[in-house]
Amino acid sequence: MMAGRQVFVELPQPFGPGKVKLAFVEGLQILIVNVDGTLRAIANSCPHAGASLYGGKLIGTKIRCPSHGLLIDLETGCLSPGGAAGAQTYAIEEAQGGAMIALEPAGD
Ligand code: FES
Repeated sequence: MMAGRQVFVELPQPFGPGKVKLAFVEGLQILIVNVDGTLRAIANSCPHAGASLYGGKLIGTKIRCPSHGLLIDLETGCLSPGGAAGAQTYAIEEAQGGAMIALEPAGD
């Protein structure tokens, strides 16, 4: 169960493993990815220099930034290797026809 403010995002159906959608939500760009059956949501801004991650190649649980090729972990948002300076990630759950994304951390 997610806490915080949630928004519904429509996803193409079916949205199976390997599918990616760039969603525009309340002024935010959020990349939604189905990673082996688990939805992940991450800010569409590479922690290295802010490039869009949309169109990046999926490699396991990571996405390769199209700009300089660094890998970003889709669960933690962290650059890999290194681990520091991660991108914002969001809690996400499947919902009918799409997904619910928690825009704010629990307790805010
Ligand atoms: S902006 Fe993503 S690797 Fe440089």
